Amino acid sequence: MVKQLPRIPHLRSFLQYQSRRHASTKPTHLTILNQDYPTDHKTNITPTIISKLPIRLHTQRSHPLSTIRSLIESHYPTFSHLSSFSPLVTPYQNFDSLAFPVDHPGRSVTDSYYINEGLMLRTHTSAHEVEVFAKGEDRWLLTADVYRRDEIDASHYPVFHQMEGARIFEASPSGMKEVEDDNARLASHLAKSNIVIEDIPHLSPTNPVQPLHDPKHSEAVALNLKLSLNSLLLELFGGVAGVSKEDPLRVRWIEAYFPFTSPSYEVEVFFRGKWLEILGCGVVAQSTLDSAKIANKLGWAFGLGLERMAMILFQIPDIRLFWSTDPRFLSQFSHGKITTFQPYSIHPANWKDVSFWLPHSEKQKATMHDNDFCDLVRDVVGDLVEDVKLVDQFTHPKTNRQSLCYRINYRSMDKPLTNAEVNDHQSRVKAQLKEQFRVEIR
Ligand code: PHE
Repeated sequence: MVKQLPRIPHLRSFLQYQSRRHASTKPTHLTILNQDYPTDHKTNITPTIISKLPIRLHTQRSHPLSTIRSLIESHYPTFSHLSSFSPLVTPYQNFDSLAFPVDHPGRSVTDSYYINEGLMLRTHTSAHEVEVFAKGEDRWLLTADVYRRDEIDASHYPVFHQMEGARIFEASPSGMKEVEDDNARLASHLAKSNIVIEDIPHLSPTNPVQPLHDPKHSEAVALNLKLSLNSLLLELFGGVAGVSKEDPLRVRWIEAYFPFTSPSYEVEVFFRGKWLEILGCGVVAQSTLDSAKIANKLGWAFGLGLERMAMILFQIPDIRLFWSTDPRFLSQFSHGKITTFQPYSIHPANWKDVSFWLPHSEKQKATMHDNDFCDLVRDVVGDLVEDVKLVDQFTHPKTNRQSLCYRINYRSMDKPLTNAEVNDHQSRVKAQLKEQFRVEIR
């Protein structure tokens, strides 16, 4: 079944509050996961997003995302497997506790969903690092739904799933012995396997050891991180990729930057002719462990995108499919098994353009962020939208008014759309645009 407009009470007034011009009609409270929250000037969470919060695909047995989660969890049998953390977090948890600068773009209302100034939807599973370390967990995996405002295409969806993994060791001779023993075990396993790793130095001037770390400890931990992830990737990709001596699995490590790890890396896997970015990771910033009141320890963390991994392993071509409740999708999968998805229909694309003038006043030049447009379209037509592109933009030289033209691709994954249906969706998008942003359709 195709997801249509979510059935949320007071949808109309809800949508109205988003109109900056109708600020007075903004509801004072929103009900989210059965609890009431006050709204304020930062509120930008949409009905579509609210409707996704209870779904938790990563916990639905035999769903591809849940299978990927289980496979990774069984690769780390001695780790705690966590998956019940609320998606509502404070900006402190999501950003400050991880040393994000105050002007980081991820904090803006155009990039993240806010319930109000003090509460947002987590944009990554790292938001829980401090609280999990603070519980005393020293090896854990945490799987969760994460939310980011983004463009619309076959590989972007405002909700996706991540798994965070972390392991910390005593910063002592016995702790380092534990790391070295584990490194020896992992290295001997990998040496016997059909995997080629393009490595980089653990530390470099552009990817430095943290000031409070002994470089020897940091290198041993970084090596443990690399060996541990290489062996995970070998297990996940080795089986399905037809990996052999002649055609080994290729993995490459790249320097990266995250405010909450140093050194930091990204990992890519060569799969079906392309290098694909799979995860980010690094040696945990000491400030994270300090906030968790963990002394004399150091360790690593990684964050891995489950959709990205599942799209590759199951050959799922469109990210919207993960949300499908069509039995032709769901019945293809059984728990714990990676199988190749058989597309049951590819229906024609339906492109429609909408051009409009943004409202204009002497004082203020109106603007609209692409993500505002995308959220509006999702609220009106749900998952029937496959792709949205800004195709034209200009400012009238005399009136100074701004004109935008967006091209929307309507395509159902389940059935062909009739012209009448597409036209109806397009008119509802136009009506909502007029109501919410006071635009003048051209
Ligand atoms: N949270 C990061 C992201 O979403 C990934 C990451 C996790 C990087 C843990 C380093 C350590 O991109």
